Amino acid sequence: MNGSPPVLSLRAVAHRYPGSRSATLEHIDLDLHRGEIVALLGASGCGKTTLVRILAGLDRPAAGTILLDGQPLSGPHARIGIVFQEPRLLPWLPVAANVGFGLAGLGRAERDRRVAEALARVQLSGYGERWPRALSGGQAQRVALARALATAPELILMDEPFGALDPATRSALQDHVAALWSGSDGALLLVTHDVDEALVLADRIVVMAPNPGRIATTVAVRLPRPRRRDGHDLRALRSSVLDVLGNADPRCRSLAIG
Ligand SMILES: Nc1ncnc2c1ncn2[C@@H]1O[C@H](COP(=O)(O)OP(=O)(O)O)[C@@H](O)[C@H]1O
Ligand SMILES: [Mg+2]
Repeated sequence: MNGSPPVLSLRAVAHRYPGSRSATLEHIDLDLHRGEIVALLGASGCGKTTLVRILAGLDRPAAGTILLDGQPLSGPHARIGIVFQEPRLLPWLPVAANVGFGLAGLGRAERDRRVAEALARVQLSGYGERWPRALSGGQAQRVALARALATAPELILMDEPFGALDPATRSALQDHVAALWSGSDGALLLVTHDVDEALVLADRIVVMAPNPGRIATTVAVRLPRPRRRDGHDLRALRSSVLDVLGNADPRCRSLAIG
């Protein structure tokens, strides 16, 4: 994409769960560059979460190499932020302490500054003293996003981050992520089974096929931002991505993906 070395580089990554007869992931090659949003799109069961767990350092690949900024990745890494499908906030800590949870090594003033900045980026300034239980689903997921941003990661992994939200909140958060990512120099890997989510957000859509999980093809999304979901160009690309997805995984032909 650009001349600089990739933030994240995967070569021939494979995975198999213990006791499983077949591989979960086979020969995954993928590069992520600075400022890029890459969507990993595929139906349920094709190994997306397994790949996220490997990149998060929570699981180890059976084969292959993973480099973060040119260095082998060998466990959880402070430069990688993660947003899961559920916010996973600690209910006994107020919002600010949740956002600052990964910043324990910093002094108080710097931590407060980073927390305030991260909350401002998700438009929740003034929410620091609230309790997680007093937040809506969308607000809680924005706090989770702020927590991931607060450590200034080079790479953010999002595993179906908006899947548990209602459609209107999901669209609003997608737009929000698109806006806050413009001009960012981190890389974002967004895992989704939602074609529209991939089309609205991604610079590139990496389509996965199942059994074993592998990359079927990559589709570049060269549409101007902000993107209109009902725009003509997006609709045209949607039908070609759906074709690609249907070829990669016959289960998707009926659109019954997820
Ligand atoms: N802990 C596990 N042990 C054994 N098999 C697993 C485990 N987790 C997931 N799998 C299997 O690995 C495959 C990929 O799962 P997953 O990575 O969760 O896919 P996705 O996120 O794309 O839905 C599925 O067939 C699933 O049943
Ligand atoms: Mg999953």
